[in-house]
Amino acid sequence: MNNTYIDACFKRPTSHTPIWIMRQAGRYMPQYQAVRGRVDFLTLCKTPDLATKVTLLPIDLLNVDAAILFSDILIPLEPMGISVAFEDKVGPVLSAVQDEASIKALRMIEAEEDVGFVMDAIRMIRKELDGRVPLIGFSGSPFTLATYAVEGGTTKSFHNIKGLIYSRPDLADYLMDLLADVVINYLNAQVDAGAQAIQIFDTWGGILADPEYVRFSLKPVQKIIANLKRDSIPVIYYINNGSYLAHHMDNIDADVIGIDWRQDIGEARRTFGKNKGVQGNLDPTVLFASPKEIRTRAHRIMDTVGPEPGHVFNLGHGILPQTPMDNAIALVEAVHEYRR
Ligand code: CP3
Repeated sequence: MNNTYIDACFKRPTSHTPIWIMRQAGRYMPQYQAVRGRVDFLTLCKTPDLATKVTLLPIDLLNVDAAILFSDILIPLEPMGISVAFEDKVGPVLSAVQDEASIKALRMIEAEEDVGFVMDAIRMIRKELDGRVPLIGFSGSPFTLATYAVEGGTTKSFHNIKGLIYSRPDLADYLMDLLADVVINYLNAQVDAGAQAIQIFDTWGGILADPEYVRFSLKPVQKIIANLKRDSIPVIYYINNGSYLAHHMDNIDADVIGIDWRQDIGEARRTFGKNKGVQGNLDPTVLFASPKEIRTRAHRIMDTVGPEPGHVFNLGHGILPQTPMDNAIALVEAVHEYRR
């Protein structure tokens, strides 16, 4: 049994630096494409035996040190009363909730009843993994979920969600608080079903000015972590584009902070790594270079992190669909072979 991922999350010494890759089961993998050729993405998420099969692909093909539940952060928005669709080449398309009436109409969820297929998948994956590596459950942060709910999809300007924050901060508070309650219920159900670590994805927290980040993203995340069942379950908070927010990370009661490549990981360690682990932070586009260059850059990150325990290797954001799979395999090998 390989427990290096959990050990590193808790800053315990490990035989090698553990690695997993955000979006490790995805379109860059021909074996994933084969499954996706038969069913659409949402059906894949909602069919536990298919979600299980896809979750296990990177364990068998890449030799990563952790599995992550195959699902999407937008899944719990559906039972709240938001329609969610994924369109090829467009991405997610949601019924945008932008006024008081539609925000106040959103419902609290009961995860085991409303999205039971997720918990069924977790139970099935645990059985199939049979202790080989730990299983990570996850959710979006309230602010990141709210950007999709209010924008109705992906955006470049974020003017609807930021417009809401600046024109109706009271309503934005209400939405973040409801989403925090939804995430607490959802993540505790995942832990009950067998998730062995929890990652909270704050993909869009890093678009806010500092005071707005604290009020609309950090505060609801603090509420979530304070309400998670977590005796031996590490919590990882991933913030994208958050180098200017590093001074807040010690106020988050997570075991690990995940960062992107814009931030120096050695500096991150010195800023908030005394009591916390760090996860990251290779630029996903390095995987378009040669295996030799990938190895050099991976080893450079581990040199920068230093010998103290508490590093989980990952990319700084999700692996891109165009990535050659052999280069992802080369990265995992390079991280595993590294010795100080
Ligand atoms: O990491 C994993 O392998 C686990 C599965 C996972 C997916 N999405 C699968 C997925 C996880 C953890 C996510 C999280 C997620 N989803 C985030 C947070 C992390 C991040 O990347 O910032 C966000 C913002 C989303 C929302 C989302 N889902 C978008 C914007 C898109 C479309 C863009 C894209 O990359 O396709 C998705 C679709 C999605 N989620 C796919 C996968 C494998 C591609 C769907 C397909 O097969 O067509």
